[in-house]
Amino acid sequence: MTTRRKTPEELRSHRWYGVDDMRSFGHRSRTAQMGFHRSDYAGKPVIAIVNTWSDINPCHTHFRQRAEEVKRGVWQAGGFPVEMPAMSLSEPFQKPTTMLYRNLLAMETEELLRSYPVDGCVLMGGCDKTTPALVMGALSMNLPAIFMPAGPMLRGDFRGQYLGSGSDTWKYWAELRAGNITQEDWRGVEEGIARAPGHCMTMGTASTMTSAAEAMGLTLPGAASIPAADSRHAQMATLTGKRIVDMVWEDLKVRDIVDARAVDNAVTAVLALGGSTNAIVHLIALARRAAVPLDLARFDALARRTPVLANIRPSGKFLMEDFFYAGGLRGLLARLPDLLDASAATVNGRTLGENLAGAAVWNDEVIRPRDNPVVAADGLAVLTGNLAPRGAVIKPPAMEARLQRHTGPAVVFASYDDMAARIDDPDLPVTADSVIVLQGAGPQGAPGMPEWGQLPIPKKLLKEGVRDMVRISDARMSGTSYGACVLHVAPESHVGGPLALVRDGDLISLDVPARRLELNVDAAELERRRAAWKPPAPRFERGFGALYLTHVTQADQGCDFDFLEDGAPTPDPEIH
Ligand code: FES
Repeated sequence: MTTRRKTPEELRSHRWYGVDDMRSFGHRSRTAQMGFHRSDYAGKPVIAIVNTWSDINPCHTHFRQRAEEVKRGVWQAGGFPVEMPAMSLSEPFQKPTTMLYRNLLAMETEELLRSYPVDGCVLMGGCDKTTPALVMGALSMNLPAIFMPAGPMLRGDFRGQYLGSGSDTWKYWAELRAGNITQEDWRGVEEGIARAPGHCMTMGTASTMTSAAEAMGLTLPGAASIPAADSRHAQMATLTGKRIVDMVWEDLKVRDIVDARAVDNAVTAVLALGGSTNAIVHLIALARRAAVPLDLARFDALARRTPVLANIRPSGKFLMEDFFYAGGLRGLLARLPDLLDASAATVNGRTLGENLAGAAVWNDEVIRPRDNPVVAADGLAVLTGNLAPRGAVIKPPAMEARLQRHTGPAVVFASYDDMAARIDDPDLPVTADSVIVLQGAGPQGAPGMPEWGQLPIPKKLLKEGVRDMVRISDARMSGTSYGACVLHVAPESHVGGPLALVRDGDLISLDVPARRLELNVDAAELERRRAAWKPPAPRFERGFGALYLTHVTQADQGCDFDFLEDGAPTPDPEIH
């Protein structure tokens, strides 16, 4: 980390504002047009506030106000704030899946930062894919950057019971399908489950990825756990604005922070949180942007030594609001000194270890001590075998333990529509021992690898009391979901992975302790099926979809675009 401070002439924005030519006249006169006097910006760092606010993103409803609070901090510290709206990836509304657009937001972020006179940036995100997208773009551009997490929403409420985003939707939906609750009850859940600004407050992808960003050193200490509605969240926004200005003068860039130590710390934090399986895809993509080696095997190795300490749904009992009151991520990380690299750098200029000094846990039931973990290890597990040669993942704490070793006959669906049409057919030959297989749900097949991986349990089995069974797909699963769902099977079926070759009745063996996933069909028969397999037609022939299908990588490589992974930095634009 450098201690030399930049001079105003060394600012990147100086090339736009500070030189004496016709172009810079244009930049200054147009800034004056917006009501700013030269003294407002001359010689000051220009701070982009990349804001993913949108009228259709409920998780970011407070971002208009928070952007003002970030600006207040930037002004106070002697910077010039410039708010830049960026595509909002609204998890509940965007179809077929926000994952299709993660790389588009990453590209937009990178290009916004490159093409404008930006010296440093505050990245405002939190709803699921917004966090990895913003960080991926910032890593590729490599300016000073701080991530400002949206913060979780308050607990949901239904007749005095706490409701968790997603998890309780699945739970009450199953009860409705089983005939155990009324339509009126269901309406009550609808009205109370999301009652405040902020992202999902279970340990879904949002809480997982904002916490990963903090563990990686990219937020102010403690930022990711503060509920959006808490006044301390607004204070954090202002402090973020203040700090980014100094980061510019110190020339502390995002790749000075995200190195192998930071990535391992993020993976360890995700595991100790019982975090979403989606983090695997996102962290691999993000690490590859920073040229840090990270593969599925590393996740599995760290999972074997990392206990799940956060007792948060869906793996545990509580919600993010409880987690904050119990000490938040700093409290949790302070319980893992032997598993973290305390020397890793962070945005405030101190090491992770220095930032954890004095952190405490106020409720041992929410953040468990090391000698009483929620799960001793294996918060995530990576499976391989002839059904997933390049890997698949499962979340053991979120499944019924009896299914960890299971062999059963496949019931195969060729697509989501096929599954939706037949899953509740009373004549479907399915039992509690069956293994439900969904094909065509991967990065290219769906496309965009949607969160379809928590395949529904057939209604007739729900009525018999079945609440979990082995399900396999090349899809992802919402971090708020649960069940014995094998996900991210790679290579996916759409490109001819072995998942495409499974037929009804084939025996499939899942063995989580041995990390195996096997299709018990002999090699000669599989070869015959492979020879007869025909690649499906591409799902898009024009536009962004066509670009996506041409360049997206498989799940084990992070589903980034191949041309966006690490490479020579793109030069700054000429200013003519
Ligand atoms: Fe935005 Fe869940 S819907 S984080």
